[in-house]
Amino acid sequence: MEWTDIKQQAKERLQGICRLCRICNGLNCAGEIPGIGGVGSGSSFINNYQALLKVRLNLRTLHNVSNPTTEVEILGHKLALPVLGAAVAGCRINFQGRMSEEEFCWSQVQGALAAGTVALTGDGGHTEIFAAGIKAVQAAKGAAIPIIKPRPLPDLISRLRQAEEAGAMAVGIDVDAAGLINMRLLGQPVGPLDSGDLEIICQSTKLPVIVKGIMTPDEAVMACEAGAQAIVVSNHGGRALDHTPGTAEVLPQIAQAVRGRITILADGGVRTGTDVLKFLALGADAVLVGRPVVWAAFGGGAEGVQLLYQKLATELKVAMILTGCAAPQDAGEHLLAVPSLNQSPLIDTQNNN
Ligand SMILES: Cc1cc2nc3c(=O)[nH]c(=O)nc-3n(C[C@H](O)[C@H](O)[C@H](O)COP(=O)(O)O)c2cc1C
Repeated sequence: MEWTDIKQQAKERLQGICRLCRICNGLNCAGEIPGIGGVGSGSSFINNYQALLKVRLNLRTLHNVSNPTTEVEILGHKLALPVLGAAVAGCRINFQGRMSEEEFCWSQVQGALAAGTVALTGDGGHTEIFAAGIKAVQAAKGAAIPIIKPRPLPDLISRLRQAEEAGAMAVGIDVDAAGLINMRLLGQPVGPLDSGDLEIICQSTKLPVIVKGIMTPDEAVMACEAGAQAIVVSNHGGRALDHTPGTAEVLPQIAQAVRGRITILADGGVRTGTDVLKFLALGADAVLVGRPVVWAAFGGGAEGVQLLYQKLATELKVAMILTGCAAPQDAGEHLLAVPSLNQSPLIDTQNNN
């Protein structure tokens, strides 16, 4: 199976849902929720893409880094590459039921495992969503991470127990889903959590807790102080609040505030191994990849997902050779051409079909 075949197959199966644009920048699918787009104007998704595009890497080839390692250790687990599968859920609404939640979760989790990494699974207003994630976690003998919506504490903690019973290696909360009105309409209310709630959650489990959806340094510090072991710098792929910055814009300040105290994951617009290296250089320990996992699962099931990670690992390795970076943890500001984030994008983002 080739990646181009997988994309072609996914394009057919996702017709009317995802266009699989040549450049996945959030323009053509702006406002398409349910679906795969960014919320409202689409600007938060678009900003993820543009912020990453503005980051420039220093090309350096006078060194001896000819065989860099892509391995990392995240929350005590060795991963073959610093890329995890982002939680992507809601097949019935977002993908018009063209794949069952169970089949999607299976592909997402098993594909990641086969590639030597792990996936996060999601939660939502329909009960099959979280259940499918838990089932996939069990099948993977715990090598996956259920992400729970910011529900009222008793509901949240009962899902946390399900994650523990499934043997999950960690558990997370996508705190940025606090405004999901459709969950309230389905009788599954969500809302913001305060630092006291976060502390209660972290103290109520021995599992490492990941707080997903951090976009400011003060909230990163709050997550640290509440006892979380990881944050995901994320704007939910631009699907929560319209008009947020791109994640690559806010990551450096967040990393400066909490680096060394907590594991820093980041997502939003990762499409290539070069994008992975950019996020590492900006301060992430590893990244999550979202929409491409959807293409991979629809285009090739678990095998397609495995191939996606293998492609990202190969591209990352090449980028590491060309920047003189021997290991993911060696990536840092020195890889970035300065002033990286002030540059404007050079690629025409309008002509994109
Ligand atoms: C269709 C769809 C469903 C998603 N569902 C969830 C979810 O249930 N829980 C969650 O934490 N994030 C969810 N996300 C956000 C992703 O985990 C991730 O933050 C985002 O997709 C990363 O951006 P990228 O798609 O540009 O890689 C979803 C994203 C998409 C596109």
